[in-house]
Amino acid sequence: MTKKPSHAHPASIEELTPLEARAEHARLHQEIAAHDRRYYQDDAPTVSDADYDALRLRYEALERAFPEFATAESLTKKVGARPSEKFAKVKHAVPMLSLGNVFSDEEVLEFVARVRRFLKLAEDESLRVTAEPKIDGLSCSLRYERGRLLLAATRGDGYEGEDVTANIKTIGEIPEKLHGVVPEILEVRGEVYMAHEDFAALNERQKTAGKPLFANPRNAAAGSLRQLDSRITAQRPLHFFAYAWGEVSELPAKTQMGVLDAFKRYGLRINPLTKIYATVEEMMTHYRAIEAQRATLGYDIDGVVYKVNDIALQERLGFVSRAPRWAVAHKFPAERATTILRDIEIQVGRTGALTPVARLEPVTVGGVVVSNASLHNEDEIARKDIRIGDTVVVQRAGDVIPQIVEVVKDKRPQGVKPYEFPHVCPRCGSAALREIDEKTGETDVVRRCTGSLVCPAQAVERLKHFASRNAMDIEGLGDKQIEYFYDEGMIKTASDIFTLPEREAQMSPRLAEREGYGETSVRNLFAAIEARRKIPVNRFIYALGVRHVGETNARRLARHFGDFESLRETARAAAPGGEARARIDSIDGVGPVVAEALHDFFAEPHNERELDALLKQIALEPMPAVASASPVAGKTVVFTGALERLTRDEAKAQAERFGAHVAGSVSKKTDLVVAGPGAGSKLKKAAELGIEVITEDEWFARTGQG
Ligand code: IVH
Repeated sequence: MTKKPSHAHPASIEELTPLEARAEHARLHQEIAAHDRRYYQDDAPTVSDADYDALRLRYEALERAFPEFATAESLTKKVGARPSEKFAKVKHAVPMLSLGNVFSDEEVLEFVARVRRFLKLAEDESLRVTAEPKIDGLSCSLRYERGRLLLAATRGDGYEGEDVTANIKTIGEIPEKLHGVVPEILEVRGEVYMAHEDFAALNERQKTAGKPLFANPRNAAAGSLRQLDSRITAQRPLHFFAYAWGEVSELPAKTQMGVLDAFKRYGLRINPLTKIYATVEEMMTHYRAIEAQRATLGYDIDGVVYKVNDIALQERLGFVSRAPRWAVAHKFPAERATTILRDIEIQVGRTGALTPVARLEPVTVGGVVVSNASLHNEDEIARKDIRIGDTVVVQRAGDVIPQIVEVVKDKRPQGVKPYEFPHVCPRCGSAALREIDEKTGETDVVRRCTGSLVCPAQAVERLKHFASRNAMDIEGLGDKQIEYFYDEGMIKTASDIFTLPEREAQMSPRLAEREGYGETSVRNLFAAIEARRKIPVNRFIYALGVRHVGETNARRLARHFGDFESLRETARAAAPGGEARARIDSIDGVGPVVAEALHDFFAEPHNERELDALLKQIALEPMPAVASASPVAGKTVVFTGALERLTRDEAKAQAERFGAHVAGSVSKKTDLVVAGPGAGSKLKKAAELGIEVITEDEWFARTGQG
């Protein structure tokens, strides 16, 4: 008798007896239903999307082989069961940003050195930094006006969160009215979390009630806060530490610590382990002390956050992309465990990148069950000599996808072969190549499928990206639905999404008659599609999924070009060496790689046709304004010559903070040139083009900085 394959290694369906198949189908039904509950109702998924998909695929395959299992109760009849109710969206007056991470003492030293360099601090000038625990919960913004709590929002994507005011008001330690004299407008930011003890008790109650358990305190806190019924939130013991602020009419102090002290006076909780230091040695000692207390704090923390104490310096330092230059998170080392590598699966992404994913024997790492891990790329697998069947060390750090750190070579079974990375796309069979960088002659680490226009995997991934939350944000058109519509031939390209309602009217059977869809879900989907026929231009640019054009670059391009047609024309004309290419290249933060990717994208006839089709369906709106009514907002500024009050980096950061866009060279698009002593050709060019030139002092005056 041959050995029965284990659960982790499913038998091929043909090998199953009807009885075995029925048992597996029933088991999967339970498992998937439980995951659905955790995902949709409890906000606490315990598996990755990929794992969930695998279960679902197997379940569906069983039904195809044994159609009698596909009864009315089957989960395949319930596709897209998204909850219809949802929270109102809230735009953050000041974005809720994230933090850069560092993991070693050297990186902390570098952080401090970088700050000092940026500020041009002399060696004998001290720099004071606060250090406080990084709470592993979810961040919230609490808006107080005249001391009253008016609005509480989750972080969301940093720019827009969800209104959770009713739920926040159930948290006893968050005052509805602040004490004493407070700023007229005050947005307090901090972390909502659940203590270990309360988490254990909650899971105990869930267990007794036969309800699904939460994977960790953070999921429990998130699930509790995102309850539509605030009576449920009220029964969940949540806590809050204040550590930052958003919009404030007048700051109560000039330092980070001073503001935290003010928060305390107002009746908010701040973390008692917050301290101020003036040397890196002290910061590190504090870090180690907090790390040593970690297990006894009673709540989860995942590192220490350092912040420059002086708020005037914070303002000078500003932000890079989505994180402040004046703060950093010093994370604790990741947690590790060993398990067996069952398989290596190759996923094909939107840009054709073949990404290897490790399928692992499930193992608990730091309280979370892990069954997939990132393998990065071909070279990484070869370098670590990772083979299917190996025992491997898995590491998990915070939210990052678990990684395979190394192979336990002693445990390698006899006869396992080195892994051979495929040279053809597993989805479309096109050749998969590693590009060679023309300039450096180096081979790209990523192997890519060359079948861009024929590869179904790339097409589906592009569509998923297009409809995704930070792109077109089409509710009800999630990954599963896109796959369904693609497989059914109903949506092959982005423009098909917008013609779907019209085409659907001619279809037989109609969508509402199909499995998994009903009148309401179809109506909701079509309404969601209609709602996106108008979209801000930056979101649209991002949605196109051009290589190297993420949200930040999409915003830069939208800010620079204003309208989509100018971007399109310039990019189409941007052959190497030409003026159009130089123009894109000179946009601040947008380099030659992006310029090339844009040209490749817009010069491709297929993309041209698709864009025409798409733009017939939708209307683009200007990008929402970022900065306030600053007189330089939306202007393109060039700094040239020696600046005396600002370093170049600072000047750039400052201008961007005021909503201006900084370019490296003077062109017709330039609105303003700030020139210091020694300015040369740029000043001359500005004069030729009749562009306004001001001094550094005038720049300060114009931006209202005296
Ligand atoms: S300060 C602009 N301080 O970490 C800086 N964040 O990785 C705003 N977090 O989104 C963040 N403890 O949810 C700050 N003491 C702390 C924190 C903290 C936890 C979270 C916060 C933020 C994330 C960034």
